[in-house]
Amino acid sequence: MTEERSLYNPKSCRILAVSDLTPQEKLFRLQLNDGSPLNHLPGQFVQISIPGLTEAPISIASSPTCADYFEIGVRKTGLLTNALHRLQPGAQIGIRGPFGRPFQLEALPGKQLLLLAGGCGLAPLRSLIQYCQNQPSVYASVHILYGARSPQDLLFKDELLHWKIIDHFSCQYTVDQNPSGSCYDGQTGLLTQLLDGVQIDTENCCAVLVGPPPMYRPIIRQLRSKGLVGPQQIMLSLERQMRCGVGKCGHCTIEHLSCCCDGPIFWLEEIEQLRGAL
Ligand SMILES: Cc1cc2nc3c(=O)[nH]c(=O)nc-3n(C[C@H](O)[C@H](O)[C@H](O)COP(=O)(O)OP(=O)(O)OC[C@H]3O[C@@H](n4cnc5c(N)ncnc54)[C@H](O)[C@@H]3O)c2cc1C
Ligand code: FES
Repeated sequence: MTEERSLYNPKSCRILAVSDLTPQEKLFRLQLNDGSPLNHLPGQFVQISIPGLTEAPISIASSPTCADYFEIGVRKTGLLTNALHRLQPGAQIGIRGPFGRPFQLEALPGKQLLLLAGGCGLAPLRSLIQYCQNQPSVYASVHILYGARSPQDLLFKDELLHWKIIDHFSCQYTVDQNPSGSCYDGQTGLLTQLLDGVQIDTENCCAVLVGPPPMYRPIIRQLRSKGLVGPQQIMLSLERQMRCGVGKCGHCTIEHLSCCCDGPIFWLEEIEQLRGAL
């Protein structure tokens, strides 16, 4: 098969396991039928398809340091994701990819890492967190800050607790609202409140943001006011509606950039001045 055709032809992939993350989100553990590793980097995505239905881009939620399988966290939103949620272990799906520009891993060794996730954004960020977790001493420190809407929307609850106790790591999370009667006893408030309490080593810090678009401007303002004003200090993930995933169809453009191959991960200074980017 030519390289061009292999970009468009899905590979068969088996669902090894499915687990509930929240009432709306499930984690799927997947393996390519030919047993080969996916060979992705944290921050990349795959195009998931179900024969006879449609296709959707989904970020890879596990680290490439685990080569036996890979994982995706999927929120039920429409045709493909609802159908995916009905599948059981053993079912076959199609995948194209991995696609997209990953997190800029080469910029991170020796740095204080500030990893900020909102809502579903913890799924792609988990790939980077697990990657760092495998070599914690490579970074000066790793601070994970995560905000969800409510206690029942918190993803990867067991891992949040585990990330707190790894050497060089800290992990804090908060919910916007804690309904009465819930047994949640963690923090309530916005992600910006968690960030208020973090001591930043301005010269040596790199922040990584993954979340819904409304989260970005307030967090960026706050990071800047805390002194993160240099180049390559803030990295973020942008989402656009996608079709081809490989820079050909023009569905995901942000001015001269294609989100699917110039991104989805960008340095802030690459996209800040582009109309509609944030
Ligand atoms: C790079 C990238 C990574 C993604 N990673 C994940 C992930 O890890 N987990 C996950 O659950 N979802 C992820 N998404 C979002 C997912 O691709 C969409 O929700 C997709 O539309 C689901 O397909 P569907 O057929 O179920 O829903 P559809 O029937 O296509 O659409 C559901 C609704 O979502 C809207 N929509 C579609 N794409 C987007 C988008 N990119 N941004 C905002 N609204 C959109 C549609 O207009 C429609 O209103 C990602 C998207 C991108 C671009
Ligand atoms: S999805 Fe086709 S160009 Fe990006």
